[in-house]
Amino acid sequence: MDHADPTFCGEQKLRGEQKLIVEGGQPLRGSVTISGSKNAAVAAIPAALLASSASVIENIPDILDVKVFADILTELGALVSYDRNNRTMTIDPNAFKTSVAPHHLVSRLRASYYLLGVLLSKFGVAEVAMPGGCDIGIRPIDQHIKGIKALGADVTLEHGTIKVKAKSGRLTGREIYLDVTSVGATVNLMLAAVFAEGTTVIENAAKEPHVVDLANYLNAMGARIQGAGTDTIRIRGVTSLRGTRHALIPDDIEAGTYLLAAVATGGDVTVENVISKHLESLLSKVVEMGASVEDRQDSVRVVAPKRPKSVNAITLPYPGFPTDLQQPLISVMALADDVSLIQETIYDNRFGFVNELMKMGARIKVDGRTAVVEGVTGLTGAPVTARDLRGAAALLIAALSARGITEIYGVHHLDRGYERVEQKVSALGGHIARVC
Ligand code: EPU
Repeated sequence: MDHADPTFCGEQKLRGEQKLIVEGGQPLRGSVTISGSKNAAVAAIPAALLASSASVIENIPDILDVKVFADILTELGALVSYDRNNRTMTIDPNAFKTSVAPHHLVSRLRASYYLLGVLLSKFGVAEVAMPGGCDIGIRPIDQHIKGIKALGADVTLEHGTIKVKAKSGRLTGREIYLDVTSVGATVNLMLAAVFAEGTTVIENAAKEPHVVDLANYLNAMGARIQGAGTDTIRIRGVTSLRGTRHALIPDDIEAGTYLLAAVATGGDVTVENVISKHLESLLSKVVEMGASVEDRQDSVRVVAPKRPKSVNAITLPYPGFPTDLQQPLISVMALADDVSLIQETIYDNRFGFVNELMKMGARIKVDGRTAVVEGVTGLTGAPVTARDLRGAAALLIAALSARGITEIYGVHHLDRGYERVEQKVSALGGHIARVC
């Protein structure tokens, strides 16, 4: 049985019958190597289609979202070869000729909406079905559409498919102000604007590390993008891009998840292959919770206190505390010595896992976008069901800290974004097994 392959239980089992059995109560100790960033990968993979020759993307994480995106590109005609052992993916866009991405493919993955920017850039026309993804609230794409229209495309929505067409064959650079700081809109507009005539300026752009990573990759292909990582990104249109090698940045959210698991279990964990600058907001919370942090820039060690101190937090776009670690942080707050408050400002429904956490003994009240978490001295194992990716990570953290056995259902959510989770947790001394 190949545990490196999240599909090893077979497609049927993947749809919800797999479970993780976790026997909690062991402090996690040791080192864990962090994989390449999921959100950088799902931007770089479609971006490879913009070049006239093959790209090799390195440090590709072995996760379900990457596999699904590779399958989508293959079905659409690209030549994709995925070498799991060397963590590289080679994407040759030359046979890729279609500007249509149908529902049965793109509904499998939210980030497939990046095909809109890519196909429009490449062909001047695109038809992409509305995307799927985690159910964590209303997730409009009005800012993507507003930007694409500003660049000179007609946009219509018909039968769940977005149809876009550059009015004069080629898009034209414009200044676009995003009403909300959106990672997806920033990435999509960078992809759409690389070949636009003149200069595109994205104001109020997202500053997340994976936005910068994508800009670095596109620039290595020959694009002219400046300012990624600030709130103003300038893209001077070019006429062609060539394939190149690009190594993805490490996954800050995976790293944060293991560090929070260390705090929840009273452990001592070092995350290797990270960029500690990307973890600043998380590390400051970890220190507030009473842990000690050794920052060696490409690795970070966290030594947890016996019991975490309560903290308050608010989720914000980067460099604020990431919404993707809000749920994992709640699992730690559930064990803290007093009452913690956390406010979710990015999504309107990202507390769905709280009911499951309460089955394990957590005391949490949710009022709109705020959760009040009254720390308890310990959680107890229970059967729980994950309904989204980071909720699944939060349940895993809770299970690792809890007394007794937790069965976590809905494991495919975890597999979307966490590589070889059983191996990594076991190597840290956690007791975990997957049952098909
Ligand atoms: N928004 C709009 N209009 C838009 C786009 C976004 O109102 O046109 C709103 C959203 O509804 C949300 C906020 O803006 O309230 C931020 O959304 P954003 O576009 O930044 O999110 P996203 O691009 O869909 C990415 C990550 C998410 C992560 C968010 C925020 C990828 C593939 N996904 O999503 O990752 O939570 O940015 O940092 O990069 C995850 O990894 O678990 C995950 C959900």
